Order: sequence, then structure tokens, then C-alpha cells
Amino acid sequence: MTEIIDGSAVAADVRAEVAERVETLESAGVTPGLATVLMSDDPASETYVSMKQRDCEEVGIEGIHVEIDADAPAEELYETIDDLNERDDVHGILVQLPVPDHVDKRSVLRQIDPEKDVDGFHPENVGRLVAGDARFKPCTPHGVQKLLEAYDVETEGADAVVIGRSDIVGKPMANLLIQKGPVGNATTTVCHSRTEDLDGKLADADLVVAAAGIPEFIDGSMLKPGATVIDVGINRVDADTEKGYALVGDVDYDSASETAGAITPVPGGVGPMTRAMLLYNTVKAAGIRHD
Ligand code: GUN
Repeated sequence: MTEIIDGSAVAADVRAEVAERVETLESAGVTPGLATVLMSDDPASETYVSMKQRDCEEVGIEGIHVEIDADAPAEELYETIDDLNERDDVHGILVQLPVPDHVDKRSVLRQIDPEKDVDGFHPENVGRLVAGDARFKPCTPHGVQKLLEAYDVETEGADAVVIGRSDIVGKPMANLLIQKGPVGNATTTVCHSRTEDLDGKLADADLVVAAAGIPEFIDGSMLKPGATVIDVGINRVDADTEKGYALVGDVDYDSASETAGAITPVPGGVGPMTRAMLLYNTVKAAGIRHD
């Protein structure tokens, strides 16, 4: 039987742990605060940010939200970040990506105080993660690690294939999987759009993390029987639904669940974990300032 990895349940456990930590901080006179900054008209980004704000409220984190016109000058975003860097009630800062084309993403990420960089995207935090001394692990790969841990998936010595080489998921995921220690020690291959023999790589993979952003492009026939499949994809595809679209992963769930030993659904797999780990990083950031 294929095990369905229930991200909603594991995320609820993480949120409960975070809520306890918030109470401890509160009793020391500190209310953790997370600032989200949105400079985009993209409806998906708007939805993601409002969900993050709602999550904050649920666990007792103070949510601060700033919206900047998508066509405003980049300086407005830099000034907003400077203000948030200075504020004592703001412990974490998240600038929702992507930012508009006229704004340089790298400069934005560098502008955020690395001790408030709850995404873990500032070069100092990327460097620390690669060096095996992470301050903030990026939320999605960290959430994947938590899922693997919760379901006792053995990564030590496993052949892992990460599909996708993004700064947000693929690269940090691969870095975490190769590190010494729990939920690491995997022999990890990173595949991407120029990989010549994806099928050949997948055929030997005990663990597959699919994060390419291509709807349902991995099916069961490509997987090693018994493999653990973690589907990071959240793709909007046209569908005859009330909203006019449906959300599907990078993995064709129906066929993959016939071959896989364990699999995450979409929705209800990695998505809730990404959100929960942002809360986790925010209380960690508050702790860095106040412990
Ligand atoms: N856009 C898509 N995923 C993310 C994320 O994890 N963090 C931020 N800041 N923007 C995103």
C-alpha cells in the first residue's frame, strides 16, 4: 500500500509547537512579528501573502503587511525594507517573489537584515546553509525535511533525485539532503531542463523531490517501485471549476501512487509545510533577538 504523506497533519504539529514558543516569548514580553511585503499584481502572490498573514494570526504572531504599487520605483521597496529592518516589533521580513522586472531581486534580498531573513534567501544565510551552519533554512526544503522525518523516510545512503534547480527549492533542497546528519547523507542528483536522461536518473531514485513547476510531468512509469515521492509543484491549470482553474503538482498523482511507496498529495502535502516553516523561522528570528 502506498503511504500518503499528510502535510496538513504534520504542519498542524509544527504550528502547535510554534504557538507554544510564541507563548514563552510572550511571557518574556516579546510578541514575534512577521512583515510581508507585496509588490505585485499577481493574484497567486496576493493569495499566498494573505494566507501567510492568516497563519500568523492563528499562532499569535503579529502580522504586518505592506503593499507597494507594482509600478512604483524600486527605491520604494528598498526604503520599506530599511524601515522594517529598523523596527523592533518586526522579527521576520518576507518580500514575496517574484518582484517586478524593473526591481533587481538580488539587491532586494541583500537589503533584508540577515537576522530577519526568514526566507533564508540572503547570501549570508545561503552561505551558512551550504557551510552546514544554517540560521534560517528556506521554508519549502525545510518543510520537506520535516515531512521525511515525520514519516521515518531513511535518507542515509539513499539515492535522491531533486528535479529543479531554483534558489528557493532545488538548490537548498539538494544542499540539505547531502549534509551530514538527520534527514541528510543522501547521494543526491539535481536534474533540470537540460538533463538528458531524466528517466534513467529516476529509475534508480529512492527519493524524488519534484520542484520543476511543470504540471504532472512525472508519472508512475518513471519511478522506482517503492520510491518516496515529494511533490513540491503547485501549478494552476485551466479547468472547468468555479475559479476556472485547478491546482496540480509536478507529479501525476494517480499513476505515481501506484508505483511509489509514499507520496505527498497536492494540495495537502508540501504547501502547508512551507507555510508552517515560515512561522517556525519567525519565532526563531524573535528568539535570536531576545533570548
Ligand atoms: N514566492 C514563491 N515562493 C516563495 C517563498 O518561499 N518566499 C518568497 N518570499 N516568495 C516566494
